[in-house]
Amino acid sequence: WKLTPAEIFASGPVVPVLVIHDVDKAVPLAKALMAGGINVLEVTLRTPVALDVIKAIAEQVPDALIGAGTVTNAQQLKEVTQAGAKFAISPGMTAELLKAGQEGSIPLIPGISSTSDLMKGKDAGYTHMKFFPAEASGGVKAIKSISGPFPDVVFCPTGGIGPDNFKDYLALKNVRCVGGSWVAPDDAIANGDWDRITQLAREAIAGATSVN
Ligand code: 3PG
Repeated sequence: WKLTPAEIFASGPVVPVLVIHDVDKAVPLAKALMAGGINVLEVTLRTPVALDVIKAIAEQVPDALIGAGTVTNAQQLKEVTQAGAKFAISPGMTAELLKAGQEGSIPLIPGISSTSDLMKGKDAGYTHMKFFPAEASGGVKAIKSISGPFPDVVFCPTGGIGPDNFKDYLALKNVRCVGGSWVAPDDAIANGDWDRITQLAREAIAGATSVN
């Protein structure tokens, strides 16, 4: 791995989870987020154009740390790597995906919402994980409790996180960053409301910086 998962987690406290339906929106969206101080991006494989979006951002916005989200199997990990993703995030894990991540050339952040999956990930050598779906799986309390038996595993929680609760997560010692779609709402992307997205990014970064 060229970058380490620790470097990915340290590259920004808020990782925007992006669902992009139109490849023409990719570059202006990435630039709008960067103008607001966010340069780590997660493009989810939830639309047919996701790989083209990753490719466009990787080529045209080289300063962005572009990652792929919703990567659920080895084939997808291969495809996003070829498209130019610098890291991959999964909502969960399978033995096949963990193995592909070990053998792949970009860092894989597997997802967990249980201590049993955490242990499977740890056994495969992973210490940086997504905690998903964060709010529905016990949220701040769950992640805080997990730090007792597993102090060496750190998280990027996502799912149900927004302006009202993201700082509570960032205050936890085993949380390095949080992910969420709130900084790039669907309607703002659809309408090309880049100023609003820049403003949301700015507010998120300002909020994150205020957390000790
Ligand atoms: C993810 O894939 O990380 C989540 O779908 C993001 O969840 P959110 O839309 O609740 O922020």
